Amino acid sequence: MSFATRRRPIEAGARADGQARLKATLGWPHLMALGIGAIIGTGIYTLTGVASGLAGPAVILSFAIAGSVCAFAALCYAEMATLIPQAGSSYTYSYAVLGELAAWIVGWSLILEYTVVCAAVSVGWAGYAAGLIQSAGWGVPAALLAGPEAGGLVNLPAVVIALAVTGMLLVGTRESATVNFVLVIVKLVALAGFVALTLPHFDAANFQPFAPFGYGAQASADGVKHGVMAAAAIIFFAFYGFDAISTAAEEAKNPSRDLTIGIIGSMLACTAIYMVVAAAALGASPFAVFSKSAEPLAFILRDLGQPVAATLIAGAAVIALPTVIMVFMYGQSRIFFAMARDGLLPRGLSAVGARGVPAPVTILTGVIAALIAGVLPLGEITALANAGTLLAFIATAACMMILRRRSPDLARPFRTPLWWLVGPLAIAGCLYLFASLPAATIIRFFVWNALGVLVYLAYGRTRSRLASA
Ligand code: ALA
Repeated sequence: MSFATRRRPIEAGARADGQARLKATLGWPHLMALGIGAIIGTGIYTLTGVASGLAGPAVILSFAIAGSVCAFAALCYAEMATLIPQAGSSYTYSYAVLGELAAWIVGWSLILEYTVVCAAVSVGWAGYAAGLIQSAGWGVPAALLAGPEAGGLVNLPAVVIALAVTGMLLVGTRESATVNFVLVIVKLVALAGFVALTLPHFDAANFQPFAPFGYGAQASADGVKHGVMAAAAIIFFAFYGFDAISTAAEEAKNPSRDLTIGIIGSMLACTAIYMVVAAAALGASPFAVFSKSAEPLAFILRDLGQPVAATLIAGAAVIALPTVIMVFMYGQSRIFFAMARDGLLPRGLSAVGARGVPAPVTILTGVIAALIAGVLPLGEITALANAGTLLAFIATAACMMILRRRSPDLARPFRTPLWWLVGPLAIAGCLYLFASLPAATIIRFFVWNALGVLVYLAYGRTRSRLASA
């Protein structure tokens, strides 16, 4: 078998063996908290404004489209994550089904996704934090509160939060997951408060005209893609995160039950919450006004004469958004762990310490995310994160369908309903969203993967564990 198509054998439901084993410490409440912790973040808190500016009130449809694509993908993930409950998510599934080269490309895209999501959410967090710092009058120079493209020198708060979350993860999985659980509650209460305070101001007139920029993603005069699909391709960021749970599959105590509840449950809960929050925001304020704010939810509350509530929701964002960074950093360390364990990345990276945490890669991820967050603008890194995620979703849906054909008799703890329909819908939806991303993002994504193939040819191809098997 050629190096590109060699595959890891599937032992359905089996955990990876060998010394580099992660501890099984997580139950479904932890996984669901990880999921909601990852899903609700900069997307609803910040990108709601950006996406509204791209689609107008029809951003509600963008939410529905992105949420549906993610729901289809979530069903595919649930099947694959329970069938192969090992660290590595779609990388690991691809290795077992599509072959080593495809798996490498998916893994390389996931490295981009997870690192860039950590950076993006750090920047989103820093926006709210900078607002609070400035209103508190702490005298921090403005040049240290924003990156170069936003007129500053370095986004110091973003750097600090990325490194702080790295430190929390190094304390150990269980401790971090417990902290995450409490912060998820804070985030949910803040959104519930937002809805309660804005609904009395609901004005249906704000929904007219409904789709001022049309439906398909079309580049306008300034080169920026507008329309419902362009907004869906960006707001997609708000929905993913459930896939991060599957990267923790190896640490689930009871994978078949815990992962199914964790992935599907957190996806459904978050979709419902988003639709309500977005409708409340659009009903309370004209989209053209709040879409320009870097902290749209706080902005709307202030606009409604609720300054204390605005400060509280900004405070909740500052306290709770780090949960998103935490889950993605956690997921990233597991992707590296899985790839290094397979020999495709240096094995020293997969060294697991006494607390069951792969420390070298956790530190590496945190530092790189901090560097990106310090200097790059939010919009660009968000779109790039979406590109990597969409490829991973496509790969997972393809793996699910191919395995149904190739190995129909494998014992599957969770079976995707109507797989022959859900799988193609997930793939078609992801492809359409990918094509709706900014052109520059698509080019950057292909450059990143071309680089990845070179790295593979130079390193992983000969060092793969399967090469010596
Ligand atoms: N879904 C995550 C967020 O919105 C990435 O921050």
